[in-house]
Amino acid sequence: MTQELTTSLATEPARPSEGHGWWRDAVIYQVYVRSFADSDGDGIGDLRGARERLPHLAGLGVDAVWLTPFYASPQADGGYDVADYRAVDPLFGTLGDADDLVRTAHELGLKVIVDVVPNHSSDQHPWFREALADRPGGAARARYHFRPGRGAHGELPPNDWESVFGGPAWTRTTGPDGTPGEWYLHLFAPQQPDLNWDSPEVRAEFDSVLRFWLDLGVDGFRIDVAHGMVKAAGLPDIGHTEQAKLIGSQVLPFFDQDGVHEIHRSWRRLLDSYPGDRIGVAEAWAPTAERLALYVRPDELHQAFNFQFLKCPWDAAAMREVIDESLAATGSVGAPTTWVLSNHDVVRHTTRYADGAGGGPERGLARARAAALLILALPGSAYLYQGEELGLPEVTELPDELRQDPAFFRTSPDGQEGQDGQDGFRDGCRVPLPWTRSGDSYGFGPGGSWLPQPEDWAELSVEAQTGDPGSTLELYREALALRRELPGLGDGSMSWLDAPAGVLALSRPGLVCTLNTLGEEVELPVPGRALLSSAPLAYQAGTVRIPPDSCAWWAI
Ligand code: GLC
Repeated sequence: MTQELTTSLATEPARPSEGHGWWRDAVIYQVYVRSFADSDGDGIGDLRGARERLPHLAGLGVDAVWLTPFYASPQADGGYDVADYRAVDPLFGTLGDADDLVRTAHELGLKVIVDVVPNHSSDQHPWFREALADRPGGAARARYHFRPGRGAHGELPPNDWESVFGGPAWTRTTGPDGTPGEWYLHLFAPQQPDLNWDSPEVRAEFDSVLRFWLDLGVDGFRIDVAHGMVKAAGLPDIGHTEQAKLIGSQVLPFFDQDGVHEIHRSWRRLLDSYPGDRIGVAEAWAPTAERLALYVRPDELHQAFNFQFLKCPWDAAAMREVIDESLAATGSVGAPTTWVLSNHDVVRHTTRYADGAGGGPERGLARARAAALLILALPGSAYLYQGEELGLPEVTELPDELRQDPAFFRTSPDGQEGQDGQDGFRDGCRVPLPWTRSGDSYGFGPGGSWLPQPEDWAELSVEAQTGDPGSTLELYREALALRRELPGLGDGSMSWLDAPAGVLALSRPGLVCTLNTLGEEVELPVPGRALLSSAPLAYQAGTVRIPPDSCAWWAI
């Protein structure tokens, strides 16, 4: 049945017009360096490889790239275990390569954001080695969280905190003579000891690290675990297990403590002391959109990843609710909202959206294409994860012996710590990109790829999709080109239009976006001139049939 689209209330407060920074509506492409492009044939992506492929990103039409950690690291957690914050790991190249990459990106009109990992260092960082060599209570231990154990002989961890990767968040040290000593805190892997942000040395060191990369020319930082640096005084017990399941739904004594905001404020002052708009984006897991918005108050960071939207199921009502909450929360502090569907820590959305939907991978891909058009039509900034522009699915059949995600080893029945029950390991979303139809690793590099790529990825390659009007890559290219062209997209206001159940219709200046989340087509009065659609539209006497799981943009 044909349904009317009529205007309803605007949902978003007016935006401040002054101080419009590039980041307010930037499309930022996440380069997972290890898996993007390999220049030297060791099977691992590197900075030179990434630099050579920057024209692809400029051509795609994004505004900025975010590079995941390429710093000196034993790679216990894909580089999120940093041993030297100012050095490039030889796996990824040299400092000169980093410099070249930033320059080339700027020449192409792309900004560059790099990761900073302040919650923890590597256990191979000189500071942690010194700490281990120091005595209990010694100055070198004050840069981390060392505590005596509980129990008659200190044989029990100092509190009941669990590592995000499974198992206890504490590891006991062993003295030079082999006797067990104090315990140290690691919210992630044991190779990632948490730094103590009460230590003035830690604070001063990170100021200096930020300056180092800002001086090299980067345009900002993605702040890893931005919600974790401050721990509740006294490190109190939580009182129950399965704490990882509470992340993002509760304030925990180790996450989202109010004290973190003071650190972000001081970082904002540092960023603002540099010319150009240098930004900080928080990877923060907060229980509510309101608490997340605290990270992007005017004197704090510029953006925070909107994980509430990422976690939202494929359901029109639920999506509308999260969109409204997100816009209201960030709008209340004058910050832009971010939209993100995938990253290197979650199952790729093409696969997530297929789960339990029936219809298999094609259904997931249809929804993923539609979701991309939806987020690019919403007010604010969007983050794309490498490969989503190719519609890549999660690789679900990796052999266990090739896996590298530390969470796998700490939680799988086959892993050393044997605690089963957790799925969604993070190697399957990190499989290297296919660039060409043929050749070693589909053009990822001349020497294979650190994780095997599925045999059917030739047709998903950049080469295969380029010029094919029905391809996901061309859909992204067109959407990003339109986003640049149409003043109504990006930053600004939106309002909802009435639409049948299961359909979302939103209005931006000069434009309407319709999303059909249903498994069947929906007939609507033609909203305007079709600009772009994630699936072919069919017209009939003043109405249009919107295909299942699809999204379209209309000029009005
Ligand atoms: C962040 C990163 C993730 C890493 C963790 C610990 O969540 O995105 O990849 O394992 O922090 O640094």
